[in-house]
Amino acid sequence: MQEYPPEWLPPPSDTDVDLHLSRWREYEDIITDSLWLLGARDRSGPHTAEYWGNFIPQIPNQIVRRFTTRGDTVLDLFSGLGTTLIECRRLGRHSLGVELNPAVAARSLELVALAEDPFRVRSDVCVGDSTSSETTRVVRQTLERHGDGYADCVLLHPPYHDIIRFSEDPRDLSNAASHQEFLRRFRDVVRNARGLLRSGRHLALVIGDRYGGGEWVPLGFECMQVCREEGLRLKAINVKDIQGNERGKGKNTNIWRYRALKQGLYIFRHEYVMLFRKEG
Ligand SMILES: C[S@@+](CC[C@H](N)C(=O)[O-])C[C@H]1O[C@@H](n2cnc3c(N)ncnc32)[C@H](O)[C@@H]1O
Repeated sequence: MQEYPPEWLPPPSDTDVDLHLSRWREYEDIITDSLWLLGARDRSGPHTAEYWGNFIPQIPNQIVRRFTTRGDTVLDLFSGLGTTLIECRRLGRHSLGVELNPAVAARSLELVALAEDPFRVRSDVCVGDSTSSETTRVVRQTLERHGDGYADCVLLHPPYHDIIRFSEDPRDLSNAASHQEFLRRFRDVVRNARGLLRSGRHLALVIGDRYGGGEWVPLGFECMQVCREEGLRLKAINVKDIQGNERGKGKNTNIWRYRALKQGLYIFRHEYVMLFRKEG
C-alpha cells in the first residue's frame, strides 16, 4: 500500500474490500475462468449508459478487486465517463483518469462525485492526450503528489479504431487515418502506460475486433501484440460476452442476421479483457 497524506487515508471500517487467499472460497463472484459472462449492465448509483462506448462497471470491478488492494492507485488512460473511477471510489482505491474530451471529462467528474466514498479516496481526471509525453508528465506529477509516481494498476479501454467516433479531435484514436496509424498511436499509449505502472503490477486491455474492407480485422490480437512488444507479459486473454451490453442493436437483430447469412459473416458477440503484467 502506498503512503498518502493523512486526510486521504481510509477511515477504520468493518467493510473489507480486499481479497484474502485464506478466504478464497467466499469470493464466488470473482471470475477465474477465461469466459466472462457478466450479464446486464450494473446501473447502480451514478453508473449510466448515457455514453456511447462506456464499458460495463463489472469489468473494472473484477480487475480492481482482483489486482489491487485498498489504498492502491488505479490509472485509466481512456477514462470516458469515469466507470473505473466510480468503481475505485466504492472499493477504496485512489484513481486517476485521462480523457481527451473536456466535456466528457467534466461529466465524469460530476458522476464520480455522486458515487459513495466510504474510504475517502482521491479521484482525479486529467484532460489530455494519452499518446503524448506531456500528458504522461502531468500524470506522473499527479501520482508523485499522491505517492511515489507509480500506478498500481492500469486500465486501457481505447476506441476500437473508428467503430465509434468519439469526437472531431484529430488526436482522438477513433480518428486515426488508417489501421497502421491507430496501432502506432496505441503503441505510444502502451509505452506511456508501462512507464507509469509499478513493476510487478497489472495492466488490463479491454478491446474488440472489427470488420474492415470485407474482412475480420483482429484488432484485439494486434493490440495485444503491441503490449507484448512493449515489454508486458501476457497473463490472460479473456473473452467477454457483450450480449445485453450493447445499445441500440436490439431492433436491428434480424437485419444483422440476414446480412450475416447473406455475406457469410459472423456477428460480434464478444470482446476481450486481456491481462498483462509488468515484470520487475
Ligand atoms: C471506449 S471509450 C472508454 C470509455 C470508458 N471505459 C467508460 O466506461 O466511460 C474511449 C475513450 O477514449 C477517449 N480518447 C480517445 N482518444 C484519446 C486519446 N488520445 N487520449 C485520451 N483519451 C482518448 C474518447 O474520448 C473516449 O471517451
